[in-house]
Amino acid sequence: GPLAEMSLPLFFGWFLLSSVQDKIRCTSMDFLKTLDTLDAFKKHLIDFTGKAEKEVDLEQYFQAKGTLHCTTKFCDYGKAEGAKDYAENQAVNDLYGSVSELSLSALFVTPRTVGARVSLTEEQLVLWPADAEKEADVPAAASLPRGSRAHITLGCSEGVEPVQTGVDLLEILALQQEGQQGELVEEMELGSLTYYGSGRWLLSLREPICAPACFSSYYG
Ligand code: A2P
Repeated sequence: GPLAEMSLPLFFGWFLLSSVQDKIRCTSMDFLKTLDTLDAFKKHLIDFTGKAEKEVDLEQYFQAKGTLHCTTKFCDYGKAEGAKDYAENQAVNDLYGSVSELSLSALFVTPRTVGARVSLTEEQLVLWPADAEKEADVPAAASLPRGSRAHITLGCSEGVEPVQTGVDLLEILALQQEGQQGELVEEMELGSLTYYGSGRWLLSLREPICAPACFSSYYG
């Protein structure tokens, strides 16, 4: 296929078209702004600040960088395990450059990251590496369905790498799977907000956000 002669990228993934990137950044900012004002959030501020009295401006707290995307396979220019196999995979080659619609089903915030959960279709799942959930080093997440880790990193707090976003998502999903309902905090315009302890917030979107994205790779 077309990728055979090329060196391996930093990662493969779906890259959101630019018009929808702006929309999602706005939605994310609005959510952070609203979350910041909720009494329920203020009650748990210590998770973010380490100090009970301190205030936090969530919009400043998280830094966003680069174009919005949903990583499928982190290849690290070939150094990551399974990178070459992934690049040679038939579906990866067939679908390279194609556009499909990602469904963003939830937004989540932790003291480390803010992200959007992506609910993959069966067709999109053919591009999902078999071990993505296991590689995250969240033991309870190993039995989650394939694709559970799929997400878009919207921002990271100081000193946190974007790889953390998928780990944070898997931890929340593992809690749900263990039967922890979380604490339903409030019905917001966008959906229902649930608190899972330790500064973990999940907003399940009433209407998933539909985001056209191109399956491609990033060399950096
Ligand atoms: P994510 O997909 O959660 O945003 P970096 O800038 O740190 O090199 O990462 C480039 C992209 O690859 C980011 O999107 C990042 O996280 C993802 N990524 C980095 N390391 C890994 C990893 N070990 N496993 C999966 N994805 C990774």
